[in-house]
Amino acid sequence: MAQINPSILSADFARLAQEAEAVRGSDWLHVDVMDNHFVPNLTLGVPIVESLARATDIPLDCHLMIEDPDRWAPQYVEAGAGSVTFHAEAAAAPVRLAREIRAKGARASMALKPATPIEPYEDLLPELDMLLIMTVEPGFGGQSFLDIMLPKIRRTRELIAKHGLELWLQVDGGVSASTIERCAEAGADVFVAGSAVYGAQEPADAVAKLRTLAEGATADAWWACAH
Ligand code: DX5
Ligand code: ZN
Repeated sequence: MAQINPSILSADFARLAQEAEAVRGSDWLHVDVMDNHFVPNLTLGVPIVESLARATDIPLDCHLMIEDPDRWAPQYVEAGAGSVTFHAEAAAAPVRLAREIRAKGARASMALKPATPIEPYEDLLPELDMLLIMTVEPGFGGQSFLDIMLPKIRRTRELIAKHGLELWLQVDGGVSASTIERCAEAGADVFVAGSAVYGAQEPADAVAKLRTLAEGATADAWWACAH
């Protein structure tokens, strides 16, 4: 059902192993890779993903906010990521790249910035295991949730249902106890939360609370019955 992926962007980068331990029970650990070109921020790369994969049992969900993912994304699979997300705006050959990620043994996922529509990618959806709809402009944690993304989440869920796909729909940016239910009702089933988890007194409790809220909202959702 609802999956909660804490984003380590809001964690203490000097204590990543302990910060992963602090969210035990999470479905995935969301790892934001930024290259200072695709987004105006710089975080971490392949060597840290490799170390983190050895340090935790939680599977890694790598969100690549980088230029030229066609060249770099496969290395994140080799580094131990269980899911690799590239941006539609940055990929030169998204179908080839998704196939390569899958062939190397990870889940393939594609992200859309807020101004990028889903419709041009309808035929490409069967090539993916997850679609990520950004609900803030990528680059920084702690930004306000963009309500105007809710119709895109809904339209994407409709496309997934129309084609009968087993595609996860992830939202990332400003997801918190006050926004997660709206995302779930609209059709999201994988929720990234950075500041809402690592800014909390007890990160594991924050994960549990978000999960309860998302599942409550999903139970009544139009799309969950056919799910
Ligand atoms: C932003 C990143 C997010 C970020 C979310 O570009 O992709 O994963 O960590 O942080 P919050 O949940 O604080 O908005
Ligand atoms: Zn992210």
